[in-house]
Amino acid sequence: TIAVLDFGSQYTQVIARRIRECNVYSKIYSYKTSAKQLKKDGVIGVILSGGPSSVLAANSPKADPKIFSLGVPVLGICYGVQLIAHLLDGKVEKSKEREYGHGTLKVAKKGSLFRGLPTKLRVWNSHGDRLAKMPTGFSAIASTENSSYAAIADEKRKIYGIQFHPEVDHSEGGINILENFLRKICGCKGDWSMADLARESIEKIREKVGTDRVLLGLSGGVDSSVAAALIHKAIGRQLTCVFVDNGLLRLHERELVVDLYKRNFNMDVRVARAGSKFLKALKGVTDPEKKRKIIGKTFVNVFQDSLKRIGDAKYLAQGTLYPDVIESIAIDGNPAATIKSHHNVGGLPKSMKFELLEPLRELFKDEVRALGSALGLPKEVVWRQPFPGPGLGVRVLGEINKRNLDILRKADAVLHEEMMESELYYKVWQSFCVFLPVRTVGVMGDERTYDNVIALRIVESKDAMTADWSRVPYEVLQRVSTRIINEVEGVNRVVYDLSSKPPGTIEWE
Ligand code: XMP
Repeated sequence: TIAVLDFGSQYTQVIARRIRECNVYSKIYSYKTSAKQLKKDGVIGVILSGGPSSVLAANSPKADPKIFSLGVPVLGICYGVQLIAHLLDGKVEKSKEREYGHGTLKVAKKGSLFRGLPTKLRVWNSHGDRLAKMPTGFSAIASTENSSYAAIADEKRKIYGIQFHPEVDHSEGGINILENFLRKICGCKGDWSMADLARESIEKIREKVGTDRVLLGLSGGVDSSVAAALIHKAIGRQLTCVFVDNGLLRLHERELVVDLYKRNFNMDVRVARAGSKFLKALKGVTDPEKKRKIIGKTFVNVFQDSLKRIGDAKYLAQGTLYPDVIESIAIDGNPAATIKSHHNVGGLPKSMKFELLEPLRELFKDEVRALGSALGLPKEVVWRQPFPGPGLGVRVLGEINKRNLDILRKADAVLHEEMMESELYYKVWQSFCVFLPVRTVGVMGDERTYDNVIALRIVESKDAMTADWSRVPYEVLQRVSTRIINEVEGVNRVVYDLSSKPPGTIEWE
């Protein structure tokens, strides 16, 4: 085990994630954990995380100084290196300027930490204090414009400190530095895998849940699907999944979900057929925000109703991921900042007295996908494009009624088929149709038509925060357009959305 001692950095989970990427097992510990405990747990390396505090402050979190005499390698990152200096006989001082953002790292001595890396690296910094004097036995192995001690090492005792953040994406070579520490310095084998993670999570769920029952709102999306598969592996039919059919699903979506989980996985899936309830509540409403609110409220009602029928359970499971947890935490890593509630099962009233079971809470999206594959979920689920909670409700503009929904569903199915056929489906971020409540004139055969418009929205994105319209080959667009107009009654025109985000959004409502 590699122990990551957590000093409250918003990047602690990112460190853990990078260690997993190196196929090494790690565990996050409180900074208070004693050296004795770490030894008992068989720890073979310690990483001290960053953190928002200053080691100079009287009540700042400090590690047990005995960790330096455990005889296992130690790597301090940011706050971690300052702590090394502070606890040993070095010196930390307030610097006049906060070093924040990119800097160029000049490597002076490659040693074991920088082995195989170039001598100049663009690295990412975020710290206020700086190292003024190294502890005895240390030498500086890299510097930046602002600091001659950007990385320090005591190769004899295998204690290393780096001022920048190797764990963030925008630090060049960061993963190689961590890998060097894990493999070369700690001697990790690197044979840990997602299957091991699955086994551990299943064990943990079993232990926590015991003989109690668990409920889960299954949407068919990646997160809730992987959570369901994992919990099901752990406790079988003690898990009951509720799938709400809100009438705003895509063609055959309910059948596909029920088929997969009920028939293939033998899960206890209850379907709440509430399409007409949603449509009734949405009748005559055209304002996008009002529509969203109605859909959200109706969902809660339907979900609660079906829970009443299912009976008592101690836990409510959710597919919350780490980015959902961190999303609203302020950039300077204040751990006290508010945490957003998950927006798919979001807004469940406080009166619902469940304990939460969130087995994916420490994972990132790509890890959840890998975990899903390790659990035997098919590619179509694991690599599914995102689909908004309010479903086609945000894609039928104007009033939502059965006719318009049916038109959209048929058009969307055509687009889906063609995206699969041309092998573009998994390459883009999202590809979907939008129903426009606009009629335009056309001619079909010798007849004049006066029908609706379908807009195609196909975007590329990394995280949905920004997006650009996809340069889909004309032939594909042409096939989609021809097929929709020929096959979907009520549509005589197809247009392609050329807006990026920002200023547009991905969905139209
Ligand atoms: P926008 O339209 O804001 O969408 O650019 C960004 C991403 O979020 C998805 N989306 C939602 N997902 N509940 C969800 O679970 C929602 O209410 C919701 N609204 C938008 C959208 O599909 C895109 O991937």
